[in-house]
Amino acid sequence: MNAPGADDAVRFASPLLTEPGARVSSTITLPVRTDEHVVGVRKLVREQALDLKLSLVDQTKLVTAASELARNTIKYGGGGMVQAQRIDSGLRQGLRLVFADDGPGIADIPQALRDGFTSGGGMGLGLGGAKRLVDEFDIDSRSGEGTAVAIVKWKK
Ligand SMILES: Nc1ncnc2c1ncn2[C@@H]1O[C@H](COP(=O)(O)OP(=O)(O)OP(=O)(O)O)[C@@H](O)[C@H]1O
Ligand SMILES: [Mg+2]
Repeated sequence: MNAPGADDAVRFASPLLTEPGARVSSTITLPVRTDEHVVGVRKLVREQALDLKLSLVDQTKLVTAASELARNTIKYGGGGMVQAQRIDSGLRQGLRLVFADDGPGIADIPQALRDGFTSGGGMGLGLGGAKRLVDEFDIDSRSGEGTAVAIVKWKK
């Protein structure tokens, strides 16, 4: 996989688009390579969550999950990008974030999700924690090609 652009990320993450009928009404793509980018991702997600009128608790959950995934994208994926999409399933509205990198991939996804597992001297709580903070969570990772992690938070 080459440096992922917006289209690459969509293609790579397409199995993660869990509601096939969901209409995407807007897509914003940001780079995820530096600490400043993490700040930018947090700001964008907060703004979009506010715009969708998520509760303050749900806003914070989504921003926290996004932060963890952005840090993993940088630390383990060698940098990448995020797509933030406003989606509408017909029944409900939500925000979907897809983090994509072209790093080494995750060989053992269940192991990576286990609390306490880290390959980089972290706490090993980021992925599992992010999963618990959102409504939908999916990982597509290919050895030597990269990783895409998609999360969705629905407006209740
Ligand atoms: N984008 C990625 N590419 C490759 N490996 C990843 C990626 N994201 C996570 N991993 C792997 O999954 C492991 C677990 O990730 P997790 O975020 O749960 O913990 P951590 O980043 O090691 O520590 P913490 O997030 O608690 O500081 C990582 O240590 C790494 O081995
Ligand atoms: Mg982490």
